[in-house]
Amino acid sequence: MSTPHHHDARYDDTVHVVDWEGSIPNPRSTASDPRMPSLAKAPGFAEWMRTGWGDADRTPRVEPGAVDAARQHRERLSQALPGQTLVVLAGRAQARVHDNFFEFRAHSDFLWLTGFPVEDGVLVMTPTAGGHDATIYIVPPARPGAAAFHADAAHGELWVGPQPGTAELASALDVRVNVLDDLTVPNGALIAGHAVVGKGTGARVGGRVRSAQLARTLAELRMVKDAWELAELRSAVNHTIDGFAAVRREVPRAIEFGGERWLQGTFDRHARTVGQAPGYASIVGSGANAPILHWVRAESAVDPDALLLLDMGVENRSGYTADVTRTIPASGRFTTAQREVHDLVERSHRAGLAAVAPGRDWRDFHTASLEVIAQGLSDWGMLPVSVDEALSAEGQHHRRYIVCGIGHHLGLDVHDCGASSYEQYFEAKMQPGMALTVEPGLYFHAWDETVPPELRGMGVRIEDDIIVTDDGHDVISDGLPIDAAGLEQWMDSVGVRLS
Ligand code: GLY
Ligand code: MN
Ligand code: MN
Repeated sequence: MSTPHHHDARYDDTVHVVDWEGSIPNPRSTASDPRMPSLAKAPGFAEWMRTGWGDADRTPRVEPGAVDAARQHRERLSQALPGQTLVVLAGRAQARVHDNFFEFRAHSDFLWLTGFPVEDGVLVMTPTAGGHDATIYIVPPARPGAAAFHADAAHGELWVGPQPGTAELASALDVRVNVLDDLTVPNGALIAGHAVVGKGTGARVGGRVRSAQLARTLAELRMVKDAWELAELRSAVNHTIDGFAAVRREVPRAIEFGGERWLQGTFDRHARTVGQAPGYASIVGSGANAPILHWVRAESAVDPDALLLLDMGVENRSGYTADVTRTIPASGRFTTAQREVHDLVERSHRAGLAAVAPGRDWRDFHTASLEVIAQGLSDWGMLPVSVDEALSAEGQHHRRYIVCGIGHHLGLDVHDCGASSYEQYFEAKMQPGMALTVEPGLYFHAWDETVPPELRGMGVRIEDDIIVTDDGHDVISDGLPIDAAGLEQWMDSVGVRLS
């Protein structure tokens, strides 16, 4: 939807806090054209638009439980950084071109602390004797009576629909809410969150250095999930398992028509319908595309004789996302070679899972999985050195076939808690309440001449979502089998049940 008659306030108003060099020129001048009279210069229109608007529902769609969880998260942050003014920016939708925008997705730190994605929202936590007071500052929606009601494509309710304002948000989120014009940020405040904000926000907090300390503290606090967050993750995973079934049912059709893109679209539509969106660009790779780690283009046909790697996750409306991978034969039956590769990845996966427990080193599952991979590759004669030499810090030859990590924290972000310190992430012990993926794989690129010809162009990953419990772990994505026979049976049962 273009904004033909109005100055596009939103476009001119988007800046990067960290590297803003001035306002962005609007390429579409609104100079008056007698054939297209400017509404901004039509007092009759302005007067007529002021009145005649009835009531509208402005209640924000807050997820059940999100408000209580956010309050507890703010308390944890308050205890971690006493006496500091803390500012967290929700951000705004990134411009795609001119007056078109990608969908808004609030920064996860803001979501974690407020429970709701307020575009252009700024959370300020001000130190008090007992902790912190919290206020969210917002750009108030422009309602009937204001010129911006019809002239501001970002905040005018005629453009974006009835929006919660300060009163509705304060009541729904149980926090003080004020207008951005009243925001002053004291010197020394720690600032984190989204780098892309409106110019109004930028004028108040821009030009200041964002605080790595605050970002790091938030990432480390977010590592251990509370009961509500774990329930959200379970729900996202269950939606994802349903999405895998929906995709599996479409495989025959995708072979006939539509290819990888059809399957990607099937999952993405499911994610948009039952949740908020895919939690990351869905990966659908047939045959030689399966080993390509970030194959998100999904532009190839689905080869009925090849493996199909599916890495997909539903992000719930609360913002929590699943991240699951299964590799299935498009035909429904693994060939001997496909099955051998899958079996090795499965053994590696099981070894990784066995190393997930409270008190274990974070690195243990990574190491355990890779030892199995190295041994298996050696057994196939694919390593130029011994297993010990490959596993040494100076060797790592087996990593030619798996250059990525074996897993990561999972939560509001698919690669959650990425701003943590190295020590708190990679050198930490596992704790109950952590959520993570385990995802070993083997990636034999079609043009890799070190790979036996029958294995070239084959990629297998098995990725599960796991919660660390008090006495071990819980694989919350185990509604999908991880063994070749189980996957064949799952493919049959999904197809039979619904066809
Ligand atoms: N889908 C991204 C990942 O597995 O990390
Ligand atoms: Mn992952
Ligand atoms: Mn994944």
